[in-house]
Amino acid sequence: MLIRLQKFLAEANIASRRKAEELIQAGRVRVNGKTVTELGTKVDDEKDIVEADGKEVRIEGKLVYIMLNKPEGCVTTAHDQFNRRTVLDLVEGVSERIYPVGRLDYDTSGLIILTNDGDLTYRLTHPKHNVAKTYIALVDREPTEEEIHTFENGVVIDGRKTAKARLKVIKQDDVGAYLMIVIHEGRNRQVRKMCEAIGHPVRRLKRTATGKLTLGKLKKGQWRYLTDEEIAYLKSL
Ligand code: URA
Repeated sequence: MLIRLQKFLAEANIASRRKAEELIQAGRVRVNGKTVTELGTKVDDEKDIVEADGKEVRIEGKLVYIMLNKPEGCVTTAHDQFNRRTVLDLVEGVSERIYPVGRLDYDTSGLIILTNDGDLTYRLTHPKHNVAKTYIALVDREPTEEEIHTFENGVVIDGRKTAKARLKVIKQDDVGAYLMIVIHEGRNRQVRKMCEAIGHPVRRLKRTATGKLTLGKLKKGQWRYLTDEEIAYLKSL
């Protein structure tokens, strides 16, 4: 969010708004390495680096929201007992203690949200929450109409039937068949187990969307801050 520099300094408890203005005018404040003396200057409270007298200033308790395109070969827990790479290792330069919202398997890639907003995490990961999650799965061959029907009406995995889901074949080539799958639950290895249940084991899996939030052009291993609209959308779910 863009806020005036003096407000930023005041919210970071550096000084009152009035004193902050004095600091700025005295040339004691830098934004991204450049001294700023203009009082109206706006800063992005998530991205810009603000310093007062050479020391970085931060707003404590600031909530941050990040989208990461998780590559395969890393875990979505904050710490791993086998010392494998975690998604947090990929988000450099963020000083807040953030954690992933929900899970993606070690061998699954794609969209994962990271935040320090515990309320939002709680709501989005609650079992009764049924935001749609979209995946692209690579399997060996196209499922039949009947298999698709079975999949969409729910299959039994781990002794319990899954909720209604969607499956659409989007492409078939020499490599295999690419399926677009939409589910509304978040059970353990759910997409893999559902595909297995109709006889189509998944070779590669990627999450492309959570609700309306999509990966867009974000490449594997890259991350970005969510926009204000995206944050508002998540909170509205
Ligand atoms: N379903 C899976 O099987 N794996 C994931 O990582 C997410 C959904």
